[in-house]
Amino acid sequence: DAIPLDRFQAIADLKKELNAVILAHYYQDPDLQDIADYIGDSLGLSQAAANCQADVIVFLGVHFMAETAKILNPNKLVLLPDLDAGCSLADSCPPDRFADFKLAHPDHLVISYINCSADIKAMSDIICTSANAVAIVNQIPKDQPIIFAPDRNLGRYVMEKTGRELLLWDGACIVHEIFSERKLIELKLHHPQAAIIAHPECEANVLRHADFIGSTTGLLKYAQNSDRQEFIVVTESGVIHQMQKATPTKKFIPAPPNSNCACNECPYMRLNTLDKVYLAMKNRTPEITLPESTRLAALKPMQRMLEMSV
Ligand code: 13P
Ligand code: SF4
Repeated sequence: DAIPLDRFQAIADLKKELNAVILAHYYQDPDLQDIADYIGDSLGLSQAAANCQADVIVFLGVHFMAETAKILNPNKLVLLPDLDAGCSLADSCPPDRFADFKLAHPDHLVISYINCSADIKAMSDIICTSANAVAIVNQIPKDQPIIFAPDRNLGRYVMEKTGRELLLWDGACIVHEIFSERKLIELKLHHPQAAIIAHPECEANVLRHADFIGSTTGLLKYAQNSDRQEFIVVTESGVIHQMQKATPTKKFIPAPPNSNCACNECPYMRLNTLDKVYLAMKNRTPEITLPESTRLAALKPMQRMLEMSV
Protein backbone atom coordinates (compact mmCIF):
# COMPACT_ATOMS: atom_id res chain seq x y z
CA ASP A 1 0.00 0.00 0.00
CA ALA A 2 1.42 3.35 -1.05
CA ILE A 3 1.46 6.01 1.65
CA PRO A 4 0.36 9.43 0.32
CA LEU A 5 2.74 12.36 0.70
CA ASP A 6 0.29 14.42 2.75
CA ARG A 7 -0.78 11.88 5.35
CA PHE A 8 -2.60 14.51 7.43
CA GLN A 9 -4.88 15.42 4.50
CA ALA A 10 -5.37 11.77 3.52
CA ILE A 11 -6.42 10.91 7.09
CA ALA A 12 -8.79 13.91 7.20
CA ASP A 13 -10.38 12.76 3.91
CA LEU A 14 -10.78 9.18 5.18
CA LYS A 15 -12.30 10.47 8.39
CA LYS A 16 -15.10 12.12 6.40
CA GLU A 17 -15.55 9.14 4.10
CA LEU A 18 -15.87 6.70 7.05
CA ASN A 19 -17.76 9.07 9.37
CA ALA A 20 -15.04 8.31 11.88
CA VAL A 21 -13.95 9.90 15.13
CA ILE A 22 -10.33 9.78 16.25
CA LEU A 23 -9.79 9.29 20.00
CA ALA A 24 -6.25 9.57 21.37
CA HIS A 25 -4.47 9.12 24.68
CA TYR A 26 -1.90 11.69 25.88
CA TYR A 27 0.91 9.12 25.58
CA GLN A 28 0.64 9.03 21.81
CA ASP A 29 3.25 10.63 19.62
CA PRO A 30 2.53 14.42 19.32
CA ASP A 31 1.71 14.06 15.58
CA LEU A 32 -1.01 11.56 16.46
CA GLN A 33 -2.39 13.77 19.24
CA ASP A 34 -2.66 16.57 16.67
CA ILE A 35 -4.99 14.60 14.37
CA ALA A 36 -7.33 13.55 17.20
CA ASP A 37 -10.88 14.82 17.68
CA TYR A 38 -10.58 14.10 21.39
CA ILE A 39 -7.51 13.57 23.58
CA GLY A 40 -7.94 12.38 27.14
CA ASP A 41 -7.13 10.16 30.06
CA SER A 42 -8.68 6.71 30.35
CA LEU A 43 -11.83 8.04 32.04
CA GLY A 44 -12.33 10.83 29.49
CA LEU A 45 -11.73 8.41 26.63
CA SER A 46 -14.30 5.95 28.05
CA GLN A 47 -16.85 8.75 28.41
CA ALA A 48 -16.10 9.97 24.87
CA ALA A 49 -16.52 6.41 23.55
CA ALA A 50 -19.79 5.99 25.48
CA ASN A 51 -21.22 9.17 23.92
CA CYS A 52 -19.81 8.63 20.45
CA GLN A 53 -22.11 9.22 17.44
CA ALA A 54 -19.68 8.27 14.65
CA ASP A 55 -19.80 4.97 12.70
CA VAL A 56 -16.11 4.24 13.17
CA ILE A 57 -13.81 4.83 16.15
CA VAL A 58 -10.11 5.09 15.32
CA PHE A 59 -8.42 4.51 18.65
CA LEU A 60 -4.95 5.94 19.12
CA GLY A 61 -3.91 4.28 22.35
CA VAL A 62 -3.32 0.74 23.55
CA HIS A 63 -5.36 -2.44 23.15
CA PHE A 64 -7.29 -2.33 26.45
CA MET A 65 -8.44 1.22 25.64
CA ALA A 66 -9.71 0.33 22.16
CA GLU A 67 -11.29 -2.81 23.63
CA THR A 68 -13.09 -0.64 26.19
CA ALA A 69 -14.45 1.48 23.33
CA LYS A 70 -15.70 -1.72 21.65
CA ILE A 71 -17.31 -2.96 24.91
CA LEU A 72 -19.31 0.27 24.93
CA ASN A 73 -19.98 0.30 21.16
CA PRO A 74 -20.62 -3.25 19.88
CA ASN A 75 -22.07 -2.03 16.58
CA LYS A 76 -19.28 0.34 15.65
CA LEU A 77 -16.09 -0.54 13.84
CA VAL A 78 -13.24 0.10 16.30
CA LEU A 79 -9.82 0.35 14.65
CA LEU A 80 -6.49 0.10 16.48
CA PRO A 81 -3.61 0.95 14.08
CA ASP A 82 -1.30 -1.66 15.66
CA LEU A 83 -2.87 -4.63 17.43
CA ASP A 84 0.45 -5.27 19.22
CA ALA A 85 0.01 -2.04 21.17
CA GLY A 86 -0.56 -3.88 24.44
CA CYS A 87 0.15 -2.91 28.04
CA SER A 88 2.59 -4.41 30.55
CA LEU A 89 0.16 -3.72 33.38
CA ALA A 90 -2.75 -5.50 31.63
CA ASP A 91 -0.36 -8.38 30.84
CA SER A 92 0.61 -8.66 34.52
CA CYS A 93 -2.87 -9.99 35.28
CA PRO A 94 -3.55 -13.23 33.33
CA PRO A 95 -7.24 -14.28 33.47
CA ASP A 96 -6.66 -17.88 34.67
CA ARG A 97 -4.51 -16.78 37.63
CA PHE A 98 -6.91 -13.98 38.47
CA ALA A 99 -9.86 -16.40 38.43
CA ASP A 100 -8.07 -18.52 41.09
CA PHE A 101 -7.27 -15.42 43.15
CA LYS A 102 -10.90 -14.33 43.04
CA LEU A 103 -12.07 -17.84 43.95
CA ALA A 104 -9.80 -17.82 47.02
CA HIS A 105 -11.53 -14.62 48.26
CA PRO A 106 -15.23 -15.11 47.47
CA ASP A 107 -16.44 -12.45 49.95
CA HIS A 108 -14.44 -9.69 48.23
CA LEU A 109 -15.81 -7.10 45.83
CA VAL A 110 -13.55 -6.81 42.77
CA ILE A 111 -12.53 -3.32 41.69
CA SER A 112 -10.28 -3.38 38.64
CA TYR A 113 -8.24 -0.58 37.16
CA ILE A 114 -9.25 -0.07 33.52
CA ASN A 115 -5.71 -1.12 32.44
CA CYS A 116 -6.75 -4.77 32.14
CA SER A 117 -8.15 -7.11 29.49
CA ALA A 118 -11.86 -7.60 28.77
CA ASP A 119 -11.56 -11.03 30.45
CA ILE A 120 -10.45 -9.38 33.71
CA LYS A 121 -13.17 -6.72 33.36
CA ALA A 122 -15.68 -9.54 32.93
CA MET A 123 -14.58 -10.93 36.34
CA SER A 124 -14.87 -7.52 38.05
CA ASP A 125 -17.68 -5.75 39.90
CA ILE A 126 -16.56 -2.19 39.19
CA ILE A 127 -13.94 -0.67 36.90
CA CYS A 128 -12.01 2.44 37.90
CA THR A 129 -9.35 4.68 36.41
CA SER A 130 -6.62 6.70 38.07
CA ALA A 131 -9.00 9.69 37.95
CA ASN A 132 -11.80 8.10 39.99
CA ALA A 133 -10.25 5.16 41.94
CA VAL A 134 -10.27 6.99 45.29
CA ALA A 135 -13.82 8.32 44.80
CA ILE A 136 -15.11 4.87 43.79
CA VAL A 137 -13.52 3.06 46.75
CA ASN A 138 -14.94 5.76 49.05
CA GLN A 139 -18.46 4.89 47.81
CA ILE A 140 -18.18 1.25 48.97
CA PRO A 141 -19.45 0.42 52.51
CA LYS A 142 -16.54 0.29 54.97
CA ASP A 143 -17.14 -3.34 56.02
CA GLN A 144 -17.02 -4.65 52.43
CA PRO A 145 -13.65 -6.32 51.69
CA ILE A 146 -12.20 -5.32 48.31
CA ILE A 147 -9.79 -6.88 45.82
CA PHE A 148 -8.00 -4.17 43.85
CA ALA A 149 -6.34 -5.25 40.59
CA PRO A 150 -4.04 -5.17 38.71
CA ASP A 151 -1.81 -2.20 39.71
CA ARG A 152 -0.20 -2.52 43.16
CA ASN A 153 1.15 1.06 43.03
CA LEU A 154 -2.23 2.67 42.33
CA GLY A 155 -3.72 0.25 44.88
CA ARG A 156 -1.26 1.34 47.57
CA TYR A 157 -1.96 5.00 46.76
CA VAL A 158 -5.75 4.42 47.04
CA MET A 159 -5.20 2.66 50.39
CA GLU A 160 -3.31 5.69 51.65
CA LYS A 161 -5.94 8.17 50.42
CA THR A 162 -8.97 6.24 51.68
CA GLY A 163 -7.44 4.77 54.87
CA ARG A 164 -8.80 1.35 53.80
CA GLU A 165 -7.19 -2.03 53.51
CA LEU A 166 -7.36 -3.42 49.96
CA LEU A 167 -6.29 -6.87 48.83
CA LEU A 168 -3.86 -6.00 46.01
CA TRP A 169 -3.02 -7.94 42.87
CA ASP A 170 0.75 -7.76 42.36
CA GLY A 171 0.89 -6.04 38.96
CA ALA A 172 2.74 -2.97 37.71
CA CYS A 173 3.49 -0.83 34.65
CA ILE A 174 7.06 -1.05 33.27
CA VAL A 175 6.99 2.62 32.24
CA HIS A 176 6.04 4.01 35.65
CA GLU A 177 8.15 1.57 37.67
CA ILE A 178 11.47 2.61 36.13
CA PHE A 179 11.56 6.24 37.27
CA SER A 180 14.68 6.76 39.32
CA GLU A 181 14.22 8.33 42.76
CA ARG A 182 17.89 9.32 42.82
CA LYS A 183 17.69 11.09 39.44
CA LEU A 184 14.44 12.76 40.44
CA ILE A 185 16.07 14.22 43.56
CA GLU A 186 19.05 15.42 41.50
CA LEU A 187 16.71 17.07 39.00
CA LYS A 188 14.80 18.80 41.79
CA LEU A 189 18.09 20.14 43.19
CA HIS A 190 18.78 21.75 39.81
CA HIS A 191 15.20 23.09 39.56
CA PRO A 192 14.25 23.97 43.15
CA GLN A 193 11.22 26.02 42.04
CA ALA A 194 9.72 23.19 39.99
CA ALA A 195 6.63 21.33 41.15
CA ILE A 196 6.93 17.55 40.91
CA ILE A 197 3.75 16.12 39.37
CA ALA A 198 3.38 12.34 39.18
CA HIS A 199 1.05 9.58 38.03
CA PRO A 200 -0.15 7.16 40.75
CA GLU A 201 1.21 4.17 38.80
CA CYS A 202 4.68 5.25 40.05
CA GLU A 203 6.25 3.50 43.03
CA ALA A 204 5.77 4.87 46.56
CA ASN A 205 9.42 6.02 46.85
CA VAL A 206 8.88 8.31 43.83
CA LEU A 207 5.35 9.40 44.77
CA ARG A 208 6.50 10.64 48.18
CA HIS A 209 8.40 13.46 46.43
CA ALA A 210 5.35 14.62 44.45
CA ASP A 211 3.62 17.96 45.02
CA PHE A 212 0.64 16.64 43.08
CA ILE A 213 -0.49 13.13 42.09
CA GLY A 214 -3.17 12.55 39.46
CA SER A 215 -4.33 11.00 36.21
CA THR A 216 -2.89 12.43 33.00
CA THR A 217 -5.83 14.86 32.70
CA GLY A 218 -5.41 15.70 36.40
CA LEU A 219 -1.71 16.49 35.86
CA LEU A 220 -2.51 18.63 32.82
CA LYS A 221 -5.16 20.65 34.69
CA TYR A 222 -2.89 21.08 37.70
CA ALA A 223 -0.07 22.42 35.51
CA GLN A 224 -2.47 24.79 33.75
CA ASN A 225 -3.94 26.22 36.96
CA SER A 226 -0.80 26.34 39.09
CA ASP A 227 1.14 29.57 39.66
CA ARG A 228 4.39 27.68 39.29
CA GLN A 229 6.37 28.12 36.09
CA GLU A 230 8.36 24.87 36.12
CA PHE A 231 7.21 21.27 36.44
CA ILE A 232 9.01 17.95 36.66
CA VAL A 233 6.62 15.52 34.99
CA VAL A 234 6.78 11.97 36.34
CA THR A 235 4.76 10.00 33.80
CA GLU A 236 5.04 9.07 30.12
CA SER A 237 6.55 12.11 28.39
CA GLY A 238 3.85 12.31 25.66
CA VAL A 239 1.61 14.23 28.05
CA ILE A 240 4.01 17.19 27.92
CA HIS A 241 2.82 18.00 24.37
CA GLN A 242 -0.61 19.16 25.61
CA MET A 243 0.90 20.84 28.70
CA GLN A 244 3.21 22.87 26.51
CA LYS A 245 0.39 23.74 24.08
CA ALA A 246 -1.90 24.91 26.89
CA THR A 247 0.78 27.00 28.63
CA PRO A 248 3.64 27.76 26.18
CA THR A 249 5.55 29.97 28.63
CA LYS A 250 5.82 27.31 31.33
CA LYS A 251 8.67 24.82 31.43
CA PHE A 252 8.03 21.06 31.57
CA ILE A 253 10.89 18.72 32.38
CA PRO A 254 10.37 14.98 31.84
CA ALA A 255 11.53 12.91 34.82
CA PRO A 256 14.26 10.49 33.69
CA PRO A 257 13.96 6.73 33.98
CA ASN A 258 16.53 4.38 35.48
CA SER A 259 18.35 4.11 32.12
CA ASN A 260 20.35 6.47 29.94
CA CYS A 261 17.22 7.88 28.28
CA ALA A 262 16.32 11.51 28.90
CA CYS A 263 12.62 10.82 28.99
CA ASN A 264 10.29 7.90 29.40
CA GLU A 265 8.09 6.63 26.57
CA CYS A 266 5.65 3.71 26.64
CA PRO A 267 6.90 1.24 24.01
CA TYR A 268 3.36 -0.02 23.42
CA MET A 269 1.73 3.37 22.96
CA ARG A 270 4.44 4.38 20.54
CA LEU A 271 3.76 1.44 18.19
CA ASN A 272 0.99 3.52 16.60
CA THR A 273 2.30 5.74 13.81
CA LEU A 274 0.80 8.11 11.22
CA ASP A 275 1.43 5.53 8.46
CA LYS A 276 -0.38 2.83 10.44
CA VAL A 277 -3.30 5.20 11.17
CA TYR A 278 -3.65 5.95 7.46
CA LEU A 279 -3.49 2.24 6.51
CA ALA A 280 -5.95 1.21 9.22
CA MET A 281 -8.49 3.76 8.00
CA LYS A 282 -7.94 2.95 4.33
CA ASN A 283 -8.20 -0.83 4.80
CA ARG A 284 -10.65 -0.77 7.75
CA THR A 285 -8.43 -3.12 9.68
CA PRO A 286 -7.06 -4.10 12.23
CA GLU A 287 -10.32 -4.01 14.12
CA ILE A 288 -11.11 -4.94 17.73
CA THR A 289 -13.42 -7.91 18.13
CA LEU A 290 -14.48 -9.83 21.22
CA PRO A 291 -16.92 -12.60 22.10
CA GLU A 292 -20.37 -11.20 22.91
CA SER A 293 -20.54 -13.08 26.24
CA THR A 294 -17.25 -11.48 27.37
CA ARG A 295 -18.38 -8.07 26.13
CA LEU A 296 -21.66 -8.23 28.04
CA ALA A 297 -19.93 -9.36 31.24
CA ALA A 298 -17.30 -6.61 30.88
CA LEU A 299 -19.95 -3.97 30.12
CA LYS A 300 -21.61 -4.25 33.55
CA PRO A 301 -18.62 -3.07 35.66
CA MET A 302 -17.87 -0.40 33.03
CA GLN A 303 -21.41 0.94 33.35
CA ARG A 304 -21.10 0.94 37.13
CA MET A 305 -17.94 3.02 36.82
CA LEU A 306 -19.61 5.53 34.49
CA GLU A 307 -22.61 5.81 36.85
CA MET A 308 -20.34 6.26 39.89
CA SER A 309 -18.23 8.92 38.15
CA VAL A 310 -20.89 11.54 37.43
P1 13P B 1 -4.59 7.84 32.64
O1 13P B 1 -4.42 8.61 31.36
O2 13P B 1 -6.00 7.39 32.79
O3 13P B 1 -4.10 8.63 33.80
O4 13P B 1 -3.75 6.48 32.53
C1 13P B 1 -2.40 6.42 32.33
C2 13P B 1 -1.95 5.17 31.67
O5 13P B 1 -1.00 4.55 32.02
C3 13P B 1 -2.68 4.71 30.54
O6 13P B 1 -2.13 3.56 30.12
FE1 SF4 C 1 0.36 0.19 30.04
FE2 SF4 C 1 2.20 1.51 31.37
FE3 SF4 C 1 2.04 1.83 28.75
FE4 SF4 C 1 0.10 2.82 30.35
S1 SF4 C 1 2.23 3.46 30.27
S2 SF4 C 1 -0.17 1.66 28.46
S3 SF4 C 1 0.07 1.28 31.97
S4 SF4 C 1 2.57 -0.06 29.83
